[in-house]
Amino acid sequence: MLEKIKATASYIEDRIKARPETGIILGTGLGGLVKEIEIIDSIPYNEIPDFPVSTVDGHAGRLIYGKLGNIEVLAMQGRFHYYEGYSMKEVTFPVRVMKYAGVKQLFVSNASGGLNPEWHVGDIVIITDHINFFPEHPLHGKNENELGPRFPDMSKVYDERLRNKAKLIALEHNIHVKEGIYIGVQGPTFETPAEYKMFRIFGADIVGMSTVPEVITARHSGMKVFGISIITDSGVPGEIVEISHEEVQEVAMKAEPKMTLILKKLIESI
Ligand code: HPA
Repeated sequence: MLEKIKATASYIEDRIKARPETGIILGTGLGGLVKEIEIIDSIPYNEIPDFPVSTVDGHAGRLIYGKLGNIEVLAMQGRFHYYEGYSMKEVTFPVRVMKYAGVKQLFVSNASGGLNPEWHVGDIVIITDHINFFPEHPLHGKNENELGPRFPDMSKVYDERLRNKAKLIALEHNIHVKEGIYIGVQGPTFETPAEYKMFRIFGADIVGMSTVPEVITARHSGMKVFGISIITDSGVPGEIVEISHEEVQEVAMKAEPKMTLILKKLIESI
């Protein structure tokens, strides 16, 4: 595993001839930030040795190296979801590779279902903490001490300084943001009303099918993490309506410019 990670990181480094310290993982339908990046190189996932092969037709995904303002970034346009059939090692492989390619801070975005009854569809949420409700842990198995500790601390997962900066940026641009807890679940079904209720009782504000595995892996390897989410549908009793993936993408696209602005300004300010 370690050899594969190092070989893939070397491939990327040789190709881009740089070691960007900022990594970005953009959620499905949340690729707007890419338009803000001055792209220097773009590598389709299927050209990267040992990267998982995408299961979604026409959405192969790509790794982008470029500049956001003065900051060099390595951005994943499209991520690997557990529900697609990837193992947790595959889902988190790109984060391992990013670490060896020089990334020190990781910015992640996603779409989520809202559980907090005070919040609304279209709201932007700065993630303060998470609950790992995936059936398989990304660090399950023998620990490679070179990658990180056997029992990693998770008391401060989402960097407080970055969160405070993001709140300030939102305020300056008149964007209302919430702060809350994300619960990561395997999907691919959206929740039943009973499941939404259970996740709310667990203490979560939003629910989604990604992010937690990548974030755990990033923290295991010592990266700083910032996470941001768009509420695309409601899981609040009395507000739940039928939803589809297309509707989730539509709502995400509408709220995306605000989220993109926060991420762009935040990254440029590092
Ligand atoms: N549940 C799980 N994942 C999601 C949802 C949801 O309601 N909305 C967007 N991703």
